[in-house]
Amino acid sequence: MDIADKIKELERRNLEAELGGGQKRIDQQHAKGKMTARERIHYLLDPNSFEELDKFVVHRCHDFGMGEKKIPGDGVVTGYGSVNGRQVFVFSQDFTVFGGSLSGPFGEKVCKIMDLAIKNGAPVIGLNDSGGARIQEGVVSLGSYGEIFKRNVWASGVIPQISVIMGPCAGGAVYSPALTDFTIMVKKTSNMFITGPQVIKAVTSEEVTPEALGGAMTHNTKSGVAHFAEDTDQAALDRVKEILGFLPQNCREMPPSVECTDDPERRDKSLNKMVPTNPRMPYDIKEIIRTVLDGNLFLEVHRHWAKNMVIGFGRLNGMVVGVVANQPRFLAGCLDIDASMKCARFVRTCDAFNIPLVTFVDVPGFLPGVNQEYGGIIKHGAKIIYAYCEATVPKVTVVTRKAYGGAYDVMSSKHHDGDINYAYPTAEIAVMGPDGAVNIIFKKEIDEADDPEATRERLVKEYRNNFASPFKAAELGYIDQIIFPENTRPRLIKALMMLKNKRDSLPERRHGNIPL
Ligand code: HXC
Repeated sequence: MDIADKIKELERRNLEAELGGGQKRIDQQHAKGKMTARERIHYLLDPNSFEELDKFVVHRCHDFGMGEKKIPGDGVVTGYGSVNGRQVFVFSQDFTVFGGSLSGPFGEKVCKIMDLAIKNGAPVIGLNDSGGARIQEGVVSLGSYGEIFKRNVWASGVIPQISVIMGPCAGGAVYSPALTDFTIMVKKTSNMFITGPQVIKAVTSEEVTPEALGGAMTHNTKSGVAHFAEDTDQAALDRVKEILGFLPQNCREMPPSVECTDDPERRDKSLNKMVPTNPRMPYDIKEIIRTVLDGNLFLEVHRHWAKNMVIGFGRLNGMVVGVVANQPRFLAGCLDIDASMKCARFVRTCDAFNIPLVTFVDVPGFLPGVNQEYGGIIKHGAKIIYAYCEATVPKVTVVTRKAYGGAYDVMSSKHHDGDINYAYPTAEIAVMGPDGAVNIIFKKEIDEADDPEATRERLVKEYRNNFASPFKAAELGYIDQIIFPENTRPRLIKALMMLKNKRDSLPERRHGNIPL
């Protein structure tokens, strides 16, 4: 064979590998509204930036006639490239090859990418579309999953890990995405479950469709397993790019700042009217968040789940910030189990990746209820405490209205090392709301009064004037400054600029023991 023949042979083999499971299966993939593994990579990465590895890897299985069926690449496309000029590592499962099922060599390819990503300090993005463990490979496949899970754990908090679910993701395979920082699901074409509808029917007699059991909206609204639900493959990949824009390459770097075109001194008088003076009136905390952030841009994470808590990314004077906020529009902003998990996980994600935290507080307390107690609100609520107390990134807090009881403490208070704690004049910082407090401490006086209702009203008013305000907390230094709402943006920016070089550390230990 001369050199020209060798080059032709390479071209032929490249084409064969790039065809994956063949044109018929590619057409089937398209007919379902799905892109192929390669199309997804090319859409995600900057043009011509993809460098593929292990294109000719094949499986080593001879059972069940598999010796005759070898397809170069073996069902996963792996390599590295860039997104908006920043390096990333990527693996993309190819459903056209053995249903994207995971063999030993398939797993080795994924692990190689993950090892490179960890050593080189760059995000890893997994595009999932797979029938799970390759049945013909038996325990070899299970071992490979185990190797991937281990690397997910090693990479956790070191480099960003993002999972996109773009087809089936079943059985133990779901645990790799579950260990990553963000999971995006494509509506209608993706699902995730430990056991599918048939097994569930056999075991519990429950009947459920795959979509209802583990579709994108199920995991975005009910379980909280997924952070985003997108209409198409393209929209999901666009979301990956957007998220990456807020994350550093690794835990040793800062998130990417951009030049700010929005005036850092911008004041907004509409903020003065956003918080109703009536503490029972709901309002949308997201309006305040958007008004304050650069360009009014807020990337909300977990938008559909635990709506009483709002989390997401934005920028202030070009600097990335993680925003956490109680949402008075849902459950009056109470902290329940889901909200606690949502908040704590996000705070830890931001802390892992050097992202300062801005917390807006309007919280009447933890949600009362037998279900909440039985479900462990004590241990889940404790996660918020744990997450804020161990977070050493800059922490700036704004109490907009209620900060009652234990919920006052846990929401990035001064006592949990909030660096700068602001309050609006509308803030009410107290052990509990005026009604509850008066009913307890003046019960006898109210019961014995000639006009109990008028007495109660008078006492509530007195309590509100004396205690349900930010001034007591400000007198004690628990609130650093009571600010005019219209000045929120410049005040936050000044605080964050002051905290830019913050260095803090925790006592030495093997690792903490967060209540799980
Ligand atoms: C080997 C598989 C496969 C698998 C699919 N295929 N899953 N091959 N191992 N796990 C093959 C099919 O035989 C078929 O090959 C091709 O992929 C496409 O599959 P279809 O069934 O035709 O496609 P579709 O109708 O779209 O259904 C997709 C599916 C279904 C829902 C994923 O294939 C399915 O239920 N597969 C099994 C899922 C599963 O139970 N996996 C194990 C989970 S347990 P041909 O040649 O006919 O086109 C697990 C343990 C992990 O993963 C543990 C980690 C610790």
